[in-house]
Amino acid sequence: MTKEKLNLSPIVHGHWRLADWKLNSQELLKLTEQCIELGITSFDHADIYGNYECESLFGESLKLDKGLRKNIQIISKCGIKLLSDKYPKRKVKIYDYSYEHIMESVENSLKNLNTDYLDLLLLHRPAPFFNAEEVAKAFSELKAQGKVKQFGVSNFNIIQFETLQKYCDMNLVTNQVEISPYCLEHFDNGNMDFFVKEKIQPMAWSPLAGGVLFSPNDAKSVNVRQALIQVAMELQIASIDIIAYAWLMKHPANVIPIVGSGKLERIKTAVEAQKTEMNMEQWYRIYIAANGEELP
Ligand SMILES: NC(=O)c1ccc[n+]([C@@H]2O[C@H](COP(=O)([O-])OP(=O)(O)OC[C@H]3O[C@@H](n4cnc5c(N)ncnc54)[C@H](OP(=O)(O)O)[C@@H]3O)[C@@H](O)[C@H]2O)c1
Repeated sequence: MTKEKLNLSPIVHGHWRLADWKLNSQELLKLTEQCIELGITSFDHADIYGNYECESLFGESLKLDKGLRKNIQIISKCGIKLLSDKYPKRKVKIYDYSYEHIMESVENSLKNLNTDYLDLLLLHRPAPFFNAEEVAKAFSELKAQGKVKQFGVSNFNIIQFETLQKYCDMNLVTNQVEISPYCLEHFDNGNMDFFVKEKIQPMAWSPLAGGVLFSPNDAKSVNVRQALIQVAMELQIASIDIIAYAWLMKHPANVIPIVGSGKLERIKTAVEAQKTEMNMEQWYRIYIAANGEELP
């Protein structure tokens, strides 16, 4: 199998909070165009975002400029069945990776997003009940039908990733995980080393810890914020978000941050971070602040 590389822009715009931005279709289209001008051409969705509403909001805005689709990449996810007023019969939240659910979920996403194909489909979370053979069958058919170009996972550990990969006839191109100067989980569980070893580009969700870095609410966030402020001062950089993104992108795993803000000025900070360099000691001071103790 020739190993396909992840085909996304170096920074992705995340649409999890899209419904909160209260943009009409025209305003959302404008924001999308502004992202494209900045070099951000990839947009991250999931079937469940905004209580199953976000994909449709984006799809409606894409209708206003039919030519735009070929210039962007759309990511969506499947597998979580939320408790929602949209599905009144559900009694509990479950994860469903059956062949039928994956196929149905992709059909819904395509309809909602007003498109014929997804550039990337991710399994949203690992599941205690997981039939890799069924998932692989769904992936093969979706690829053969031209409905999904690339496939990956989200929040998987190494063994979960490798298990699914064993069954698939295409390579999984990414694992979307939480990585930030506040969340070191994937440095600790071996995923970051695995990404480097396998040359798998990870996508980083909540790269600014969901906003916690701006309003710290515990000792750890206070310490991390302080370290970011110190490094920002040394580099004469106006805001700590630039430092947080630069910290992520310095790592040799080639992390793709998923920017979660709907505000253009804040999206621009991620782009600015691409040309911000910090030295190794500055990188480690931020790591140690999150780690809570010196290196052994
Ligand atoms: N795969 C998964 O399981 C998973 C889980 C969570 C998220 N995601 C993906 O990752 C994307 C990003 O996640 P996220 O939204 O948590 O990212 P984030 O960038 O860590 O957090 C965004 C939040 O931080 C706030 N913020 C950003 N810059 C700020 C500043 N300078 N001052 C104050 N507040 C600031 C934003 O508010 P404003 O909007 O007001 O700027 C927003 O509420 C999501 O959209 C989604 O696509 C994936």
